[in-house]
Amino acid sequence: MDGLLPQLEIGIEELKKWRNEESLHFLFPQFLNSSFSQFFLEIGFGGGEHLAHQAALHPDTGLIGCEPYINGIGDLLKKIEAQSLANIRIFPHDARLLIEQLPDACLDKVFILYPDPWPKARHHKRRLISTAFLSALARVMKQGAALQLATDDAGYCAWMLEHLLAHPDFTWTAQQSTDWLNPPPDWIPTRYEQKALAGRPSYLHYIRL
Ligand SMILES: C[S@@+](CC[C@H](N)C(=O)[O-])C[C@H]1O[C@@H](n2cnc3c(N)ncnc32)[C@H](O)[C@@H]1O
Repeated sequence: MDGLLPQLEIGIEELKKWRNEESLHFLFPQFLNSSFSQFFLEIGFGGGEHLAHQAALHPDTGLIGCEPYINGIGDLLKKIEAQSLANIRIFPHDARLLIEQLPDACLDKVFILYPDPWPKARHHKRRLISTAFLSALARVMKQGAALQLATDDAGYCAWMLEHLLAHPDFTWTAQQSTDWLNPPPDWIPTRYEQKALAGRPSYLHYIRL
């Protein structure tokens, strides 16, 4: 945490310079002369299993992980060090603060895997997925960019489907039930998925129109 996090952390102050940038290359200055061909964002990476997996699978991609949970950040740092991953930056705060400051149309893929379900009706307003949040996300996603969601909470699954169906900027790619019952081909089970499966997971894949 003392050695690696300061090198990888995206600070709140740094955020304020971003809105005028045209791509996210500036976030990975060590690669400015090379060719990061795409940029991914994972919101709420938990212990970082999936983020580290994607970083290793896509060395040509710059990844930003958002997670305020300090133990999870520590777990991700261990993976980054052990696997010598050089394409991850960490925003250790609420992802919504980051999204507000990102340039338009800068992301190729966004992952939101097992967001906190807040199952009680009086807590639904705390759910990350909302119309306002989807609009903010749509602004920073490129045309044709992917939004990969997962949840094992049937109520939150219905909530996601309802909010995304009503949103003009996203379309669901599913053609048949296996498309939401089976994980995508480059999937690795997250810690939440392994530990807490309360119900059957759904994997929802959307495209930014
Ligand atoms: C149920 S856990 C799932 C973690 C991980 N995706 C997994 O599947 O193992 C939800 C995570 O989202 C994080 N989280 C909740 N709200 C967030 C927000 N606004 N921005 C970033 N992360 C958030 C929480 O700290 C928590 O680690």
